[in-house]
Amino acid sequence: MPELLSGIRHLPEYLDRARQEALVDIIRAIVAEAPLYVPVMPGTGKPMSVRMTNCGSLGWVTDKERGYRYQPMHPATGRPWPAIPQELSDIWNDVSGYKKPPEACLVNFYSDDARMGLHQDKDETDLKAPVVSISLGNACLFRVGGVNRSDKTISFKLSSGDLVILGGQGRLCFHGVDRIYPATSTLLKNGGRINLTLRRVNP
Ligand code: SIN
Ligand code: MN
Repeated sequence: MPELLSGIRHLPEYLDRARQEALVDIIRAIVAEAPLYVPVMPGTGKPMSVRMTNCGSLGWVTDKERGYRYQPMHPATGRPWPAIPQELSDIWNDVSGYKKPPEACLVNFYSDDARMGLHQDKDETDLKAPVVSISLGNACLFRVGGVNRSDKTISFKLSSGDLVILGGQGRLCFHGVDRIYPATSTLLKNGGRINLTLRRVNP
């Protein structure tokens, strides 16, 4: 059984139900200001199965022509992303071990048939800061490997309220979401899963 690289941590049940519900309300307000959109792969223009938005001074975006990048405005509305709410800053301050605040929070919405292929988070220039990931709603099967795509991977379930921290030697690990388990949470009325990832982009 391969082991997780040091710096990769899974904190099950980090958020209690009340904090999960509060975050869902906060995400709803963010989505009202910065609507979810369908991101597409660079080059091919193939749509991803997740829908995305962001909060923070920077947001992660992707499109056919310009590829993966961070930018200060929503690609469809042209408006700045909403600010990162205190509730998310509190989580970052508690678990990141990093002095500077996050600049971006990517909001991924998975319908029950969405997934995310194995990838690295490497569009940030500050690789000393961890990526802090928060799961809400239906559980998923999360896969995490090493820093090479061909490295062995481990899969485990992420449930609503769980945190994953990708830091240290594991900061550039390959990771992805193989599947969502429908009807495993009552948090989101219409099912699906929300994943929030807090990132520091610039040193
Ligand atoms: C991501 O890697 O952007 C999302 C991971 C997750 O949904 O847990
Ligand atoms: Mn990622």
